[in-house]
Amino acid sequence: MKLHTLLKFLHPLVPYKGDNPEITAIHNDNRLVEPGSLFICIKGHTVDGHDFAQSAVEKGAAAILAERKLQLDVPVIVVNDTYRAMAVLADAFYGQPSRKLHLVGITGTNGKTTTSHLIEKIFSDAGQKTGLIGTIYTKIGNQTFETKNTTPESLRLQKTFKQMIDSGVETAVMEVSSHALVYGRVHGCDYNVAVFTNLTQDHLDYHKTMDEYRRAKSLLFSQLGNTFSHDKPKFAVLNADDPASREYIQSTAAHVVTYGIDQPADIKAANLKIAANGTVFDLITPHGVEKISMKLIGKFSVYNVLASIGACLVSGISLKQMIKSIEEVEGVPGRFELVNEGQDFAVIVDYAHTPDSLENVLKTIKQFAERNIYVVVGCGGDRDRTKRPLMAKIACQYATHPIFTSDNPRNEDPLQIIRDMEEGVKGKQYKPIVDRKEAIYYAINNAQKGDVILIAGKGHETYQQIGSEVFDFDDRVVAKEAIERR
Ligand SMILES: Nc1ncnc2c1ncn2[C@@H]1O[C@H](COP(=O)(O)OP(=O)(O)O)[C@@H](O)[C@H]1O
Ligand SMILES: [Mg+2]
Repeated sequence: MKLHTLLKFLHPLVPYKGDNPEITAIHNDNRLVEPGSLFICIKGHTVDGHDFAQSAVEKGAAAILAERKLQLDVPVIVVNDTYRAMAVLADAFYGQPSRKLHLVGITGTNGKTTTSHLIEKIFSDAGQKTGLIGTIYTKIGNQTFETKNTTPESLRLQKTFKQMIDSGVETAVMEVSSHALVYGRVHGCDYNVAVFTNLTQDHLDYHKTMDEYRRAKSLLFSQLGNTFSHDKPKFAVLNADDPASREYIQSTAAHVVTYGIDQPADIKAANLKIAANGTVFDLITPHGVEKISMKLIGKFSVYNVLASIGACLVSGISLKQMIKSIEEVEGVPGRFELVNEGQDFAVIVDYAHTPDSLENVLKTIKQFAERNIYVVVGCGGDRDRTKRPLMAKIACQYATHPIFTSDNPRNEDPLQIIRDMEEGVKGKQYKPIVDRKEAIYYAINNAQKGDVILIAGKGHETYQQIGSEVFDFDDRVVAKEAIERR
């Protein structure tokens, strides 16, 4: 694409009239620059991309997009905000790929990964070629790719959409984090359906207040646009039981479909029966009432299923088709995943790493546990500190044997993180074991017949980050080993 053509998408007040090289790629990482690239200088938290413009030119960059004038041998286009401009250019360069997809975005504190997997499965079972972008991986058809962020930044995101289009994907489902919304990583994404799961405390290190956090999530709904398109109708699928939905209804001009258990809603669940091996409930929809019997466990799983049904129903999938998929689904890696080596106690690995998700999982366990409940739990370093005492409190409230350990301590002292947790449980019974492997072994070696052990916080993760080092660590593998050695 010619530079002039590309820049038109920015609609500058004064059109750029300089040299007009062919742009063959766009990069904001100078290490990736190849001849013909447009290099975008982004001022980051730790590094300033402007410092790498010269190096990009030396590697053959054909043009530079910057926030100030730079003396270089190639055209330098100056804009006020290169990060914002990057989303526009990424969308334009890859041929506005999200317009050609049936795109479903999911936001909320908990349940994004699970809900996106459910929705993807339903579409795929219905015979569509699907794509998925989220925490565990990016998936195009049956191929998976590793991801760094739950929601990638605009360049990678639009490139992924383009790859999806090229490989015949019809429906793409993506998790949309609040960070991505605030930074504008998803600017330009033409969603058909935006789904809201729930809003509870998390990421207050970044958003400061719940008001700010709620507003961040509302962006997904306001960004559905203000037009009524008959060809590409827009839908907001909202959780009627979460008070934030009232605000999100106001944020959007899209058609609203609600789901819930407690409050009136378009799609409802009733008569929930929660057990250790699955959940049964009545699904009440405008198409009638159906009995669902699924392997997913807990009330929170029912919410994820209702959200998925809402998103698929507005996308034209039949209820019958959806129910078949839901009843079949085994679960999502690291979400209430059972480690079963034939032992006579239950071991559950779950990604719960927020107060609310920990509480939901423990509440669910309490509903079927017959004897003691062990919970092995820690809190991540370099992240929201306010949730530490809250998570400790919840652990002590529901578990008979809470064990506080390390999650990913990152650059914090793991012992200090445990001290922060302890602030919430003065005088309560718990056991601090800094080493996560030791903590898991302790629980497994002490558990007796009929007990339940929850290993919380890391779910599908296969590493542990201590300091700046990343070690191999998989709760499921460690638990399996410990059971075998017992
Ligand atoms: N709808 C929900 N409400 C509350 N907690 C949930 C819900 N869905 C999942 N969880 C809990 O949160 C954890 C993370 O779930 P996940 O689907 O990965 O959400 P996210 O992608 O939003 O982080 C799960 O392991 C489970 O403990
Ligand atoms: Mg996720």
